[in-house]
Amino acid sequence: MGKTVGIDDMAAYLPKLYVDAEELAKERNIPPSKITKGLGLEKLAIPDAHEDAATMAAMATLELMEKNDLSPKDIDFIEIATETSPDASKPISCYVQGMLEQIYGRGSFDHVGAPETKFACVGATYALIDRLAYIASGWNKAEYSIVVATDIARYRLNSSGEPTQGAAAIALLLKENPRLLAYEPEFTGFGTIDDRDFFRPVESKTAVVDGQYSIGCYLRDMRIAADAYKRNMVKLGVLKSLRESVVEKINLAAFHTPFPKMAQYAFASFLIHDWRSLPKWKKIIEKIGPEPSREGLSDVEFYISEEYKNFRRKFMKTEEFQSEYKSKIENSLIALRQIGNSYTASVWLGVESHFETRNDDLAGKRFGIGSYGSGSSAIVCSFIVQPEYKEVVKKMDLMRKLDERQRIPIDVYEDLHEGRLKLHESVIPPKNEFALVSFGNKSYDCGYRYYRYIT
Ligand code: HMG
Repeated sequence: MGKTVGIDDMAAYLPKLYVDAEELAKERNIPPSKITKGLGLEKLAIPDAHEDAATMAAMATLELMEKNDLSPKDIDFIEIATETSPDASKPISCYVQGMLEQIYGRGSFDHVGAPETKFACVGATYALIDRLAYIASGWNKAEYSIVVATDIARYRLNSSGEPTQGAAAIALLLKENPRLLAYEPEFTGFGTIDDRDFFRPVESKTAVVDGQYSIGCYLRDMRIAADAYKRNMVKLGVLKSLRESVVEKINLAAFHTPFPKMAQYAFASFLIHDWRSLPKWKKIIEKIGPEPSREGLSDVEFYISEEYKNFRRKFMKTEEFQSEYKSKIENSLIALRQIGNSYTASVWLGVESHFETRNDDLAGKRFGIGSYGSGSSAIVCSFIVQPEYKEVVKKMDLMRKLDERQRIPIDVYEDLHEGRLKLHESVIPPKNEFALVSFGNKSYDCGYRYYRYIT
């Protein structure tokens, strides 16, 4: 039996601005209900002119350190996962180190390891597993490591991806014998396929996406990873055979959520796959009709076919789906409906949303994670909620942060999106926060980003 390692605490950072999803839909001549009901989004978080993925990560890390009374010498690694780093060479984690040293003193973090990890939206889950493995191996020199997920999801104005934008960061505190979530490394399953569903060429500020195709890739990789997770449970005797239900072993879960309906598609597809061999499946298909045939279709073609989508819609209306969904997934989406896509941060914000909005006792429960990143890879893994978790949750305040934001009109959002506001023209001038203050313009620092903590 190895060491127990996992997540001790988490701190989220949200930009203080948002766009109302209904207003954006009206402006784009889309029926508002398509965004609010069809995609499940109410608000999209929008970064101000002085913010980028590095300032958001630094803010989340600072809050995590302050609320846990940590000093730099307590930290072994600051590893940052992002797909919207402003720099193709220097890792965002090193910019964050520099920002933190403005608070804690120059050189105070010179002992830390500070890499950046990239794999679209699944990057933070990869970084987390790497860091936890390092702690479990005993190689760490300080008690804590921090993994930060930080991203700004940005598509072209007027594109079909535009309503699924958003931004946020979340810092995860990792250690041996954590107070919040203990990792179960033995079950973790991966599903990886070299694909082209979504990518962002280095010269572009917005992503290129094949929307419906990307949904199919998400569902395909999640199924491969879930099958691997299930096989590991069988190998270790938690399940007697592959015909048993893996979902019954999971008490609550969070999925990567580019838009809330995607988490519902994912959970429904998960259940369809998991319940097919159970006696109760017969009763369900008596009500909704048989599952369509896959013959002649690739996995992705099947998942995005009208026949499968119709079948899944009918399944999602059954009492059986609704009761599983309400008890295991729904709370993860309360915060995510008001943020939009935050790429690497999304699944971990879903975890915090569960913790802050559930009143039932979660101690000892198995918390499942379905993490997906385009390109493409899924990770299905799980944690056990620790007995001391309530003390940690008391100091979480994502819901308060959601309520304290300012709504901006569409023209201001478009100015921010297109970079028409200068760094000093923020909608809300920075106060008690890190800000991007200038770009280098000399031969030796042309384009370099300078950050300052503004009091
Ligand atoms: P779309 O194709 O225009 O939407 O854009 P749709 O036709 O699929 O409709 C969506 C839902 O709205 C459907 O619900 C419609 O019926 C419903 P369903 O039937 O499936 O339950 N609908 C309505 N509902 C109420 N009133 C109406 C109405 N009209 C339709 N009037 C799409 C959706 C997601 C494709 C687009 O927004 C997009 O391209 N987004 C970006 C890509 C994306 O988010 N992909 C998700 C999977 S890939 C991923 O998660 C990775 C990612 O995060 C990147 C990374 O890893 O780095 C993106």
